[in-house]
Formats: sequence, C-alpha cells, structure tokens
Amino acid sequence: MSGFKNFLTESAEKVDEFLSTWLLNEGYVGDLCTYAVIGGGKKFRPSLSLIFAEGQPDDVKEDILKAGCAAELIHAFSLVHDDLPEMDGDMERRGKPSFHARYGHAQALLCGDWLCAASFRLLAELSKPEREIKISDILGKATTDMIEGQLLEFQSEDSSVEGILAIHKLKTGALMKASIMSGALLAYGESALESKDLNIYADNIGLLFQISDDYLDADVEETGNIARKLGGRKECYEFAIKIADKAKEAAFNFGKNNSKLMVQAVDYLLERMREGNDD
Ligand code: IPE
Ligand code: IPE
Ligand code: MG
Repeated sequence: MSGFKNFLTESAEKVDEFLSTWLLNEGYVGDLCTYAVIGGGKKFRPSLSLIFAEGQPDDVKEDILKAGCAAELIHAFSLVHDDLPEMDGDMERRGKPSFHARYGHAQALLCGDWLCAASFRLLAELSKPEREIKISDILGKATTDMIEGQLLEFQSEDSSVEGILAIHKLKTGALMKASIMSGALLAYGESALESKDLNIYADNIGLLFQISDDYLDADVEETGNIARKLGGRKECYEFAIKIADKAKEAAFNFGKNNSKLMVQAVDYLLERMREGNDD
C-alpha cells in the first residue's frame, strides 16, 4: 500500500471535521450542502494542499487546511451540477443518490451556486490578506478553467489525444493544480509559484488523475475517454507511467521535504489503476 493512502485517510478526516463544523455555522443552506460535501469522496484536492503543511507552524497548517477546503467546496459544487440531467444525468454519486435525486433539481442548482460562493468566503478567513487575494485569484481562475473544460467537452470535435488531454487539463487538472499551488504558496511564499518543477508536478499529477479515472471507466462508451482513445487499458497504463515519471522527477527536483509525499501521491494514482478501484 502506498504511504499516501494513510495520508489521504488522515487528511480526509481533517477536512470532514473542519468543513462539517464550518457548514453547521451556515444555517439551513449549510446544512443542506453537507450532503454534497461530507461523508464520501476521497478529498484528494485538499490532500494535495496538505502535502505542504508538513513541518509548518500551526497557523500556516490551518491556513493550508482552509485553502484546501475551499478547493473542495468548488469540487463539490462542480459535482452537484455535473450530475444534473442537463449535464451527465447521474442519479448516483459516491454510492448514494446524487444531490438532485435526493433534494430536487432547483435545490441542486442553488446549492451548487452557494458552494461556489461559500468557497471564497472561506478563503476570506485566511490569516494574511495578501495570501487571501492571491489564492482567491488562483482558485477563481481554476474554477473558470474547470467550467471552460466542461463546456469544451460538450462541443469538442477534436478527439485527438492532445485535444482530450487539453480538456482534461482544464476540467480536472486546474483545480488540482490550484490546490497544490495554494498549499505551496502558504508554506514557501510567492517564489513557489515560479518554481518550474512545482508547475510541472502540478500539471502532470492533474493529468494523471484524470487518466486514471478514464482507465477505471474504460468500458464506458465515451469519445473523450483517453484509455479508449489510446487503444485500451494496457496502452493507457503505459502512457500513465510516462506522465507519472515526469511528475516524480519534478517532485524530486522541487527539493523540499515534501518531495516524498509528492511522489507517493503519484504512486497512489498508479496503484489505483492497478487495483482497479476508484477509492
Ligand atoms: C471525480 O473526482 C470527478 C473528476 C473530476 C474526475 P473525484 O474522484 O476526486 O471524486 P470524489 O470527490 O473522490 O468523489
Ligand atoms: C466531473 O467530471 C465534473 C468535473 C470534472 C468538473 P466527470 O463527469 O468526468 O466525472 P464523474 O464521472 O461524474 O465523477
Ligand atoms: Mg459526470
């Protein structure tokens, strides 16, 4: 088992504990949105932020947790909307009825909107205003990129490998990259955002995540599935190894004491492919 699985479990507990309390203080809508946020989901995005909390003082750790949780609220919003009939039309999510199946369509639209706005209110709680401004910008851009990726996926006629990867990068990678960059910014300051290695790592782990997701979904008839496009699971795994190697090399070169966990996160995604489960 990769060391990252334990880290992911511990991080998910921290995230669930923080967000359930935060949502509880938000009254009726917060209570309703709890269904979309707590008690399910890997919490992979905030875990990517929390990689950079290792060895930091408590106030920085808390800010990193808040920034990661803000990204998770955006993720939750995207899933609530994504399951609506006008989008993917999924009646189940995380082994339970999807949000609109449980609470209704209008409620799903409104709660998704609320979660998006709530994310930036949570960022406003960061201890340093200059960090809050920068991270709001990072997360806002990732959110618009994610939405753009979903829009492009609807109308995409370009089903080349490059075309699919460009959409993956926007749709899934952007929010993961934002989670990494926010954590690293809070831990190491603005210079971290300029790190070529950190940027390479963040770009490639986001891609790898979506490739692993497509691998696990390879039986589903979908033109944008990279595993299908590459010719099958075996080819997809070989492709994933190349992306993983790029991410791991960049993690080593980043040269901070977070490198080990950064590499383990990559190995966890490969392991998830080998085990064939999306937990
Ligand atoms: C699912 O994301 C949607 C994608 C962007 C691929 P996750 O696999 O992280 O979903 P949860 O949060 O763990 O349910
Ligand atoms: C989920 O994408 C929504 C976003 C990435 C914003 P998918 O449709 O690919 O993921 P699942 O299968 O619903 O989890
Ligand atoms: Mg979907």
